[in-house]
Amino acid sequence: MNTYRIALLAGDGIGEEIMAEAVKILGIVSSRHAEIGFELIPAAFGASAWFSTGSCWPAETEELCDAADAILKGTIGLGHTESRQIPPDQSPEKGLLMMRRRYDTFANFRPVYLPGFLAHFSPLRPEIIGDGIDIMIIRELVGGLYFGEKEAGVNTQGLRYAREILEYDENQIHRIVLVAFETARKRRRKLHSIHKSNVLKSSMLWTDIVDEVSVDFPDVEVNHMLVDAAATHLCLRPTEFDVMVMENLFGDILSDQGGGILGSLGLMPSACLGPDKSYYEPSHGSAPDIAGKNIANPYSMIGSVAMMLEMSFGMDREAKNLWQAMQQVFAGGYSTPDISKPGSDITMVSTEEFGDRVVAELTKLPA
Ligand code: IPM
Ligand code: MG
Repeated sequence: MNTYRIALLAGDGIGEEIMAEAVKILGIVSSRHAEIGFELIPAAFGASAWFSTGSCWPAETEELCDAADAILKGTIGLGHTESRQIPPDQSPEKGLLMMRRRYDTFANFRPVYLPGFLAHFSPLRPEIIGDGIDIMIIRELVGGLYFGEKEAGVNTQGLRYAREILEYDENQIHRIVLVAFETARKRRRKLHSIHKSNVLKSSMLWTDIVDEVSVDFPDVEVNHMLVDAAATHLCLRPTEFDVMVMENLFGDILSDQGGGILGSLGLMPSACLGPDKSYYEPSHGSAPDIAGKNIANPYSMIGSVAMMLEMSFGMDREAKNLWQAMQQVFAGGYSTPDISKPGSDITMVSTEEFGDRVVAELTKLPA
């Protein structure tokens, strides 16, 4: 039997509730595969960890993650008042960046997926969504402004200033661009490289490298698109995108826009892949306003489990089953109050019941 060790970092806000559904799913998956076992190890992370241990990324959590085969993370961050008690340089977001840096998780996959029958979730008109949206946003996750040198202070004119550096070297760009081409090759063979090379030197280098790598992928259609134009295009013609690749900050912004066109970030799981270790997380925050109410949709958390099964454990077929099971629950007319409007013909269910329904659908599919 192959036992995978998974560190569970539920985090803050709705993190615990949606993580409970992920755990439920992992239990079912292992019962469907006698040869696979999961050892699940919960660990403190985020603002709640700061209040209990004095650190958002405690040493003990780091050790557990070091020893794990993969990390499944929930959500981080608390409401404004509580967050203000944590010094900014020790914030949960800082903890998250430390984790990204430690495991060099440079390749962030954020699927923006909406089958035609779920068009009602989206604020876009049905004719824009057509048969459905299926985009893979690939975001560079450990470089650029997020990790560049930073300083702030008072300048020689006595004015407060802040400065941060956007730097990429060719290797950092090359490895993410390569991942994007390889991904496009497995999908619809269309790649949009998103940049701002009419202004930024880092984007000029980025674009050069995309062109260089494209020589080895003659079967993949390459489109260079300015990031501002891409923002518009995502709203007007989302179905024209297949794979999009971009640097860290552009990816942060456009992937949230992707959540917007789906109707909710609650529909966006993600995978953050490093050379030796990967972690999986919903793309959204901890939604403190609805925490503890059993109404948060666990789709992004369960979707992150599906991505982990596929990308870390090679369980491609079970990952597909899991996606299908979730779509079946929606297709059956069930959803949770956080992502659906009351008054439609949708039956509102709780976080837990949504998870139970996914389990029921999964069990119908051959393992
Ligand atoms: C994300 C989040 C993070 C980011 C925050 C929490 C630091 O917005 O994963 O998109 O900016 O990368
Ligand atoms: Mg973000």
